[in-house]
Amino acid sequence: MKRKKIIVGNWKMHLNVHQSSVLLHQLNQHIKAYRNVEVVLAPSMLSLQPLSLQIDRRKFRLAAQNAYYIDEGAFTGEVSFSMLRDIVHYVIIGHSERRLYFHEDLPLIRDKVASAVRNEIIPIICVGETKREYEAHETKRVVHDQLTTAISNLTSREIETLVIAYEPVWAISNGSNFAKHVIAKPDQVAEVAAYIREIIESLYGKVAAELVRILYGGSSNAENAYSYLSIPGIDGLLPGGASLNYSEFSGIIAAAERVEALTMKEATK
Ligand code: PGA
Repeated sequence: MKRKKIIVGNWKMHLNVHQSSVLLHQLNQHIKAYRNVEVVLAPSMLSLQPLSLQIDRRKFRLAAQNAYYIDEGAFTGEVSFSMLRDIVHYVIIGHSERRLYFHEDLPLIRDKVASAVRNEIIPIICVGETKREYEAHETKRVVHDQLTTAISNLTSREIETLVIAYEPVWAISNGSNFAKHVIAKPDQVAEVAAYIREIIESLYGKVAAELVRILYGGSSNAENAYSYLSIPGIDGLLPGGASLNYSEFSGIIAAAERVEALTMKEATK
């Protein structure tokens, strides 16, 4: 079964509405509509609505970076998945910055995943170990706990559409240093991606494991994108810092297209 490559630009808390619109305009000029690569942009909550009016839907899809799991009520400052359902295709859930700075725990992430799915928004679930956990060889335990809790309220059918991003926390840049930050080795990424598929298969069966898309995130850029995207079992990238620069981001999309073209060529040999 063929999984479509997907590149998700996580703009984090960068760019006001005007700057977001300028970046989208630049991306629009540099990125073609690719049949085999899905390009997703995750701007700030404030920019989602205006960008949804500006966006060329043949080329781009939108993702939210967060939302609240209850549909409506007295929750000052929050935006719910039900409010976003006509605006975004995807939502990033469980990003390490939200776990760390906003104290999102496993049950909250599980509830957000279920709420997104209920509102027909596809979750991009982020999992990954901290530096301390990595050094203590706890990567698999952490990924296992984060993943199994996050998806525990879903059916196998719902799991099939999911996107899971493996993001070792120690490899995530602070935005400006993405090009020279410590990066994860492809072997390690391959091992964790295979482990994630193993977990899905054991809990939800072979079909779900084959269909779920797994991304890598952490200091990915135009230079290293091709090698990460060539890792067996990796279906895309979740760049942060590099997604704020149109030429870096377009370079990542071009790398995804090259990997896809090569795979197609090999399949028809
Ligand atoms: P980075 O961020 O590419 O700047 O390391 C990735 C992420 O946090 O999703």
